[in-house]
Amino acid sequence: MEIVEVKEGLARLKVPLAERIYDSPVFYNPVMRLNRDISVLAVKALSPRKVLDAFSATGVRGMRYVLETPAEEVWLNDLSEDAFNLILQNIELNFGVRPTAEGDSADVDLGEVRVLVRRSDANALMSSMFRYFDFVDLDPFGSPAPFLDSAFRSVRRKGFLGITATDTGVLCGAYRNACRRKYLAEPLRGELCHEVGLRILIGTAVRYAAKYDLGVKVLLAYYRDHYFRVFVQVVNGARKADESLSMLGYLWQEESGKFEYSRGFLPDKPEVAGPLWLGPLKNDAFLQSLHELSLEHPLGDPRTVEFLALLSSELDVPFYYDTHALAKRTGMGVPKLQALIDELTDRGYITTRTHFSPTSIKTEAPFEEVLSALRKVNNLCRSL
Ligand SMILES: C[S@@+](CC[C@H](N)C(=O)[O-])C[C@H]1O[C@@H](n2cnc3c(N)ncnc32)[C@H](O)[C@@H]1O
Repeated sequence: MEIVEVKEGLARLKVPLAERIYDSPVFYNPVMRLNRDISVLAVKALSPRKVLDAFSATGVRGMRYVLETPAEEVWLNDLSEDAFNLILQNIELNFGVRPTAEGDSADVDLGEVRVLVRRSDANALMSSMFRYFDFVDLDPFGSPAPFLDSAFRSVRRKGFLGITATDTGVLCGAYRNACRRKYLAEPLRGELCHEVGLRILIGTAVRYAAKYDLGVKVLLAYYRDHYFRVFVQVVNGARKADESLSMLGYLWQEESGKFEYSRGFLPDKPEVAGPLWLGPLKNDAFLQSLHELSLEHPLGDPRTVEFLALLSSELDVPFYYDTHALAKRTGMGVPKLQALIDELTDRGYITTRTHFSPTSIKTEAPFEEVLSALRKVNNLCRSL
């Protein structure tokens, strides 16, 4: 394979050159840098001792945990032989030592941090490391669902998981049967599909954890580019698991765009999306520490700082109104987003933009009030 050298964060990396990233013998996607930047900030903020990067590919993510966070033991794992060999080369490039491989393992002690490289199926590795890791990072191709069970087994009680899902088509309802198979949930098409997909993913994690008497506390969950990313803390005990399950529920949406959601283990109406997580998508203290760390992080990418600021300012209530979809559904004009936000704010309802869509608002206002504000903003616009 033809190799080029790139820099990301504090890491230098050899990556294979390929016309299309999915044709590369070892996967490296520069677009996922923001995902890795936020993950580095999360590991810095949470200070886990033992970290597993279960799907390492070039090793970029795990290498950045070694170089940019205080983790004391970082495991880099990938099933592919090409990836395993490239990870060893990248360790040598960054630290000047080539770990000696014994079969499918290679360990190196860098003084403040030990690095352990494995070539294993992620499920086999995680299943053999029962309650060992403080932070487990799942960043597979497509759905993380086949790996959730062993991830919850391998993480310590009170430990953390970072979960990426790139099967957005499945979670957003383009492949309904696949969503039923992978997540045992009913997705939704239309303007709310991204938030529904994210909440299906969290709801699935909650159900996987519950059978081990583990609850799940959501630290941060977001949608970006072509993926979902969720950071959760595992909380111990049957009562905590029950509390997490009680945050699951269902969503209904009418033709007009009006939506309703309610908590409950089973739906009490037909034509629903779910089960979904209906709890918060962020923990304010965690997000604030990520935001602060992003401002002081060397080589910080301004897009990361900007995205974290948007997440911080967002009202944390389930679902949103997309002004384009609402205009189409009601036959009204598309309003200026800021004018609608101002009108609803003047009426006493907290209303913000949302990272899910640049044309949407999250608001505390009931549907009828949103329609009335939309009508007023449209009339004002016409009379100018
Ligand atoms: C999306 S890539 C990982 C990207 C990487 N985390 C990053 O940030 O650049 C998924 C990787 O998982 C590996 N893989 C696929 N199935 C696996 C399995 N069952 N166990 C471990 N690794 C696996 C692939 O070889 C591939 O390198």
